[in-house]
Amino acid sequence: MKPVGGALTLGIETSCDDTSIAVLAGESDLLANVVSSQLVHGAYGGVVPELASRAHVTNVLPVFERALAEAGVAPEDIDLIGVTHAPGLAGALLVGGAFAQGLALALDRPIVPVHHLEAHMVSILLEKPAVRLPAVALIVSGGHTLLVHVRAWRDYRILGRTRDDAAGEAFDKVAKLLGLGFPGGPAIEREAANGNPRAIDFPRPMLGTEDLDFSFSGLKTAVLHWTGDRDPAESLARRADVCASFQAAVVEVLVDKTARAAGECDAASVIVAGGVACNRALREAMRARLPEIDVVWPSPVLCTDNGAMIARTARLRADQAVGPGGFDVHASLPLP
Ligand code: KG4
Ligand code: ZN
Repeated sequence: MKPVGGALTLGIETSCDDTSIAVLAGESDLLANVVSSQLVHGAYGGVVPELASRAHVTNVLPVFERALAEAGVAPEDIDLIGVTHAPGLAGALLVGGAFAQGLALALDRPIVPVHHLEAHMVSILLEKPAVRLPAVALIVSGGHTLLVHVRAWRDYRILGRTRDDAAGEAFDKVAKLLGLGFPGGPAIEREAANGNPRAIDFPRPMLGTEDLDFSFSGLKTAVLHWTGDRDPAESLARRADVCASFQAAVVEVLVDKTARAAGECDAASVIVAGGVACNRALREAMRARLPEIDVVWPSPVLCTDNGAMIARTARLRADQAVGPGGFDVHASLPLP
């Protein structure tokens, strides 16, 4: 039996190293959100594009079947298909794109090609549909660091971006340097819990500059030099301090620029989204710095890559649905 709660949207995400498919009823009734994270990249300390594509090919059908089973629906119950078409790894995007088009053809259903970064912002609507606008969104993931003025949903203006590494990328690279494994963010946060954030005075890149851009590659190099200047035993003994001090530097810059952006845009709320939004130090510092406005973030499973945010964004843009063959995938594409 078809569940109540409105039209059923399938959300397909394969832009990086997570294969995820969700089933959304109406606008916020999440019936299933299956995420299969690829462990194969751990040995390399970063995502290997070709291995990611191959793993998506292996995973996409079982993930689809699990999502339908968890939601208790049949393929023909699906009314709309959303799929990430940009930005991301081209080969990885192609797998989800081809799967979505095959499904659309077989079921005779429309597809909405979804921009991954819009989806990270929109993920907040799944749990907090009444989030107040205008908002400033800080998108911090493994591939992107972006400050966006959300004037209304579907009406965005980019305020700032990273000039080199993304915030999550910095966490991943520093973790690799310290032998903490991949993905680096959660490992650094765990290690930082036992360290002193004021122990080492790492640089705060671009803090205090006029613009709202970021840069994290110099900070990563500062950590590299700090450890390189010491013998391995000392570096290891002080690893918790290094993690806590590095995390404090990233958080301070992210919070400062977001707070300034919120002031400039007269924002009613700040939305923190993307994988790095799982970081508790970042969340707490953001709330402490902006006590007068709503600072919101999705649950951890909706911060990292997931099909639910793709399904929700497809609903937001249902009027822009196309037929199978009606879209391409793009490794990079401006925010719509
Ligand atoms: O949004 P996401 O799943 O994928 C991309 O679109 O890139 O973000 C993944 C990134 C990784 O760089 C990971 O290290 C980071 O999010 N991350 C964290 C935490 N959890 C995940 N960074 C800092 N603290 C965390 N707790
Ligand atoms: Zn992402």
